[in-house]
Amino acid sequence: MSPSATEPEGPKSRLGRVLVSGAAIAERVRAMGAEIGKDHAGRTLHVVIVLEGAGVFGADLARAIAPGVDVKLHFVRASSYGQGTCSSGRVRVNGGGSLALADSHVLLVDDIVDSGRTARLLLDRLHRAGPRSVRFAALLSKPSGRVVEVRVDYYGFEIPDEFVVGYGMDHAGAFRDLPDIRVLVPAPF
Ligand code: IMP
Ligand code: MG
Repeated sequence: MSPSATEPEGPKSRLGRVLVSGAAIAERVRAMGAEIGKDHAGRTLHVVIVLEGAGVFGADLARAIAPGVDVKLHFVRASSYGQGTCSSGRVRVNGGGSLALADSHVLLVDDIVDSGRTARLLLDRLHRAGPRSVRFAALLSKPSGRVVEVRVDYYGFEIPDEFVVGYGMDHAGAFRDLPDIRVLVPAPF
């Protein structure tokens, strides 16, 4: 059945240009994993992945860390966007409350640092658990969006101030399954 001219366009019509290809992501994630592996050789490293956005990246990054590191995986959930493409400015977190990280080496993994609020809040929480070290890995950084200062120890790519989807990142729950990172075209009205 062919679609009629009046049928509303599906969500795929909002997909814009490819900003980072799946191949470029894979290469960068491999390099990040090797660097993290070198910095934590011989240690146990507690990798804390921020759901849902960093689920795909975190899974790939954890497996790219050199075999000489004993990796433990943990998951926390954070959200600030709801259904829109602008942060609400309020970050909600759940999970991770019972992480026993005293005297541990910890790596926080998130998808994007925009304002920096999510990372700041999670890093402050992790520090309160009394770890030996805390480092932060983010696949993407939007430096122009920064409101709160955060140090990103390992990052994949710097990107302009555009809303992106794919490789785990969503808009209203869609597009997490795309292999590339793509720009979301603004709605026509
Ligand atoms: P921040 O707290 O403003 O730094 O926002 C970081 C969080 O917002 C990330 O963990 C993402 O989940 C989400 N986010 C920020 N920018 C984008 C985007 O362009 N696409 C999808 N999610 C985003
Ligand atoms: Mg997130």
